[in-house]
Amino acid sequence: MAQTTLSRFKDVHAALCNPKLRQSLYDAGEVIMKDVLLTLHGEQHKIRRHLELRLFRRNYAHHYETNVFPKTLAWVLDPLVSRGETDLVDFGYRVTMNLTADFAGVDRPQKTAEETDRLLAIVKTFSEGATLVHSDRNPSEVIAEVKTAQTAFRKFLEPSWSRRQRLISQFLNGELKEDELPRDVLTVLLRNQDSIELSDELIEREISFYLQAGSHSTANSMVHAVHEIFCWAEDPTALLEDPLLLQKCVHESMRLHPASPVAWRTPTEPITIASRDITPDDLLILDLHAANRDPDIFGDDPEKFDPYRYVTYVKTELYGLTFGAGVHMCTGRDLDGGVASRPGTDKDTHQYGIVCMLIKTLLEHKMIPHKSRKPTLDLNTLRNSWGTYPVQFEQA
Ligand code: HEM
Repeated sequence: MAQTTLSRFKDVHAALCNPKLRQSLYDAGEVIMKDVLLTLHGEQHKIRRHLELRLFRRNYAHHYETNVFPKTLAWVLDPLVSRGETDLVDFGYRVTMNLTADFAGVDRPQKTAEETDRLLAIVKTFSEGATLVHSDRNPSEVIAEVKTAQTAFRKFLEPSWSRRQRLISQFLNGELKEDELPRDVLTVLLRNQDSIELSDELIEREISFYLQAGSHSTANSMVHAVHEIFCWAEDPTALLEDPLLLQKCVHESMRLHPASPVAWRTPTEPITIASRDITPDDLLILDLHAANRDPDIFGDDPEKFDPYRYVTYVKTELYGLTFGAGVHMCTGRDLDGGVASRPGTDKDTHQYGIVCMLIKTLLEHKMIPHKSRKPTLDLNTLRNSWGTYPVQFEQA
């Protein structure tokens, strides 16, 4: 198998938008990723995406950000603030696990830290299975662990599944209005299970995929952005006066630290891309990390953190290709990244995105770097991620 890597922004963007290239990063992880939205191709992908996109309309992202999320956040954050310190990586995973579980449709009836921990452990095993291609462990060992985690997850999911089936029956009998149904992926899939032929196992994998898709990326993006802000701003809390600039800081950090630094694609038929001929036996690596630092698009100092950076290329925002592009473009983009501001944007009604809202809340509690404990990188992954990031709350 020949391997080709593209790293210029326009080449990577064109490849992401090419319908003759299929997703191939998760081929080895099919125990958990087979036929989920991210790995589907062509017509089947189009039908599923169309269905699930109903959940991601901008009005919902705004509603979620202003009405639902603050309660989840307070529930996780308040005890940490009263303690006076926390580890941002741990906090990020806990809070975003609840965010993605809301979206996927996994109820957490107990709302305890122990319940979040159980779900986190299951999702961590799922992610290891999904990215099996990057693992140096024995594949059959990892697959066996994923299967055990799938059994544990089934028990977790069952009550959410039956509750939604009951509500859907009540809706079909006219006892409930449509807007009284939960607005999440599980409800959408159960309502459409017959029309698009979804087996129970596939629904389970799709929900498992959503839990992974949102949690690692959101948590990681938040910690990177906090670090960049601590290094760049003389007084980070002054950003509370200018939330549109705070959002630019988040987008600029997302550009420098894309949660998925590469995408993998394989052609469905022989094609020529960026003057290279590739066949269905070949692997095309799209280097999103490098593309996001392409000086043709982002200027002469692309390595520098500069939230005032002005990007003239019309096909991108400040965060570059961090959320991908084309048919597999991240459906959680507006939810997490918000809408990019323009001159004249009203800061009071703007949709900032969950990552920005998380950091805003942390700054409101006067978060500062920990005075005695330094952050450390995660040495278990080649992705440039933080392993620990201790912070203190001056307010406490
Ligand atoms: C900062 C946070 C996030 C980043 C950086 C991110 C990044 C990405 C990227 C790069 C892709 C495309 C991968 C490819 O083309 O191979 C993607 C796809 C996807 N993301 Fe995200 N994501 C984030 C948060 C979320 C959240 C919160 C959710 C859901 C609640 C989500 C749901 C999805 C889904 C469903 C897809 C597959 C779309 C499709 O294949 O049609 N993401 N994401």
